[in-house]
Amino acid sequence: MSGRMSIRWTFSFGSWNPTECQFQLAASCIQEEEKIRIGRFVFKKDAKASLAGRLLMRKYVSENSSLPYADIKFGRDDRGKPFLVGCHEVKPMLNFNVSHQGNYAVLAGESGCNVKVGIDVMKLEYSGGKTLSEFFRVMTRNFSPLEWETIRGNSKTSDKQRLAMFCRHWCLKESYVKATGTGIAVNLQQINFKIKSSNLRTGAVVTDTELFVNGNHLEDWSFEESLLDENHCVAVALSGKGRGSVPVVFKCLDFSELMNGSKPLLSADPAYSQMFFKKEEKPF
Ligand SMILES: CC(C)(COP(=O)(O)OP(=O)(O)OC[C@H]1O[C@@H](n2cnc3c(N)ncnc32)[C@H](O)[C@@H]1OP(=O)(O)O)[C@@H](O)C(=O)NCCC(=O)NCCS
Repeated sequence: MSGRMSIRWTFSFGSWNPTECQFQLAASCIQEEEKIRIGRFVFKKDAKASLAGRLLMRKYVSENSSLPYADIKFGRDDRGKPFLVGCHEVKPMLNFNVSHQGNYAVLAGESGCNVKVGIDVMKLEYSGGKTLSEFFRVMTRNFSPLEWETIRGNSKTSDKQRLAMFCRHWCLKESYVKATGTGIAVNLQQINFKIKSSNLRTGAVVTDTELFVNGNHLEDWSFEESLLDENHCVAVALSGKGRGSVPVVFKCLDFSELMNGSKPLLSADPAYSQMFFKKEEKPF
C-alpha cells in the first residue's frame, strides 16, 4: 500500500494496440456489468477508453487500501458517478474520478474525509463543421461574459489560442460538476472561472484559477491545470483538501503498470475479445 495522498495517472489508450492476450486479461479484470457495457461500444477507441478508466480505478483502490483486488467493487450513483462500495470502511477514505477523451484516460485520486475530486481531460481540437465563431455562438449560454472575454482574447489572439482557452474553461467546468457529481445538467453560466495564469505547460501545474458560483468566490475549491502533451489539457477540481498541499504532476502509465497487481475476476472470454477486434478503431 502506498502512503501517497494524491495520485494523478494517465494511460494513453489512443496508442494502445492490445494483443488478444492483453485485451482478454484487461477485460477479465473489471466487473461483469461494466464488461457488458463496454462490449456495446461500436468503436474500439471508445471501448479502450472506458476500459482504461475502470482499470485505473481498480489500480488506485488496490494500491491505496488493504482491500484484496477481488473484493474491490464499484457502484454508480443515480447520476452515473462511480464510487467504491463500502468506501466508508476503507481507511483512509479514497476519493477518485476518471475521464477519457482524445488519446488519454486519466485518474485523480485523493485520500481523506470530506474531500471531493473531479477530473476532465480534453483534446484541443475542433472538428464540428461550423466556423469557430459560429461554434462559440452556439455555446454562448454555457460561459459567463467574463469567461467569453478571456476565451475570445483580442484582435491578436489566434483561433488556435481561442480554442485552447475554450477547452481549458470547459475542462474546468466539467472537473467541477464531476467533483460535485451533478454532471453538466446544471446552469454552467453560473459556474464562472477567473483564470490568472494565461498559459498551461506540460510537466507544470497551474493552481491559481478561481471559482465563482452565482457571484460568490468558493475559496474551498482549488483547481490543478496542466497539459498532458501539446494537444491535451486536463483539470482536476478539489475541495476539502486543505491549503498548502503540493500539486502532483501526472504520471503516464504503460500497459504493464496499468495492470500491475490486477487479478482476473472473470473467466477468459475469447468471443468477447473477437468482437472487440472486429470493430473499427474510430468513426473516420
Ligand atoms: C458526467 C459527465 C460530465 C461526463 O462527461 P464526459 O466528458 O462525457 O466524460 P468524461 O470522459 O470526462 O468522464 C466519464 C467518466 O466520468 C465518470 N462519471 C460518470 N458520471 C459521472 C458523474 N455524474 N459525476 C462524476 N463522474 C462521472 C465515469 O467514470 C465515466 O466513465 P465511464 O463512462 O467510462 O463510466 C456527463 O456525462 C454528464 O453530465 N452526465 C450527467 C448525467 C446525468 O445527469 N444523468 C442522470 C441520470 S442518467
